[in-house]
Amino acid sequence: MNRIIRAAGFTAAAVLGAAYIYGGSGNFGNRSVTVQPKHSVTNKVAVVTGANSGIGLALTESLLNRNCRVYATYRNEECSKTLLEMAKENPQLNLVVADFDTEESLDTAIAQIKKTIGERKVDLLVNNAGYFEKRANKFGALEGPGWSKSFRVNTIAPMLVTQALAPNLDKSDDPKVVFISSRRGSIARNRDEHYEGRIAYVTSKAAANMAFSSISQTKKDWGVVMIHPGAVITNFPSVQPDRISAKESAEGIIGVIESGMKSGSFVDEKGKSIPW
Ligand SMILES: NC(=O)c1ccc[n+]([C@@H]2O[C@H](COP(=O)([O-])OP(=O)(O)OC[C@H]3O[C@@H](n4cnc5c(N)ncnc54)[C@H](OP(=O)(O)O)[C@@H]3O)[C@@H](O)[C@H]2O)c1
Repeated sequence: MNRIIRAAGFTAAAVLGAAYIYGGSGNFGNRSVTVQPKHSVTNKVAVVTGANSGIGLALTESLLNRNCRVYATYRNEECSKTLLEMAKENPQLNLVVADFDTEESLDTAIAQIKKTIGERKVDLLVNNAGYFEKRANKFGALEGPGWSKSFRVNTIAPMLVTQALAPNLDKSDDPKVVFISSRRGSIARNRDEHYEGRIAYVTSKAAANMAFSSISQTKKDWGVVMIHPGAVITNFPSVQPDRISAKESAEGIIGVIESGMKSGSFVDEKGKSIPW
């Protein structure tokens, strides 16, 4: 009898233990127990850049559905109507104007983000805003201004935003920093998939991967992950077949964050490793 009780206790503990890591719910006796994953993003404070469209907007919505307070950046009211409407209805959503276009606007954006968040704790920072240079991306057509802008928006801005929010992230008991990268930032994949027509974009993503990989070593108690969001239907130019919706991508990204992925990993939205 004792053995049966001990075995039942062990089973319940094992199920609860697994649920603690992966999340889920179950019935124990007549009590229903819901266990959040260890790295759950529910009820957290999050910052999402480029939140007015595509993946950033879907992520903002998914985080609000998980009862997070979200500081969401946008740069232009005209292109941000859905986000502005969402903010009117949801007091958990705080908007910040942040344009990373020029050196000057980047400085202003960072000051504005800092001013809005103040000394508050931040649990999750998603560096999502990204720029694809359409005109001067190819060898033969490359130009300083377009390439510099790719680096400013895709590499320098996410790093400077992360640096500015480091004291806020340090206040969290489980700080997470996500860089929305691209598999096109993989030098290894370039050999098979030929990204040479997009030099300004791919180099800026590869450089950012290196920068975020570096801070994963400096900030050992942060979880830093570089995530390729999938081939997603957004305003971003793409010729990929079988693209997924922004909502699917956002849910995948949240799944990766909650899985407690090893800090410094470069993965896709399903958590699959991407070679550097
Ligand atoms: N879609 C895909 O298949 C795919 C694949 C791999 C990686 N990604 C990455 O996913 C991220 C999100 O892109 P998305 O696909 O959701 O495309 P999107 O709908 O075009 O979103 C891009 C976001 O970045 C913002 N942004 C662009 N330039 C900016 C600047 N100078 N300053 C501040 N914000 C700026 C945009 O704001 P505005 O609306 O004001 O321009 C928008 O909010 C990007 O980092 C992209 O590289 C996307």
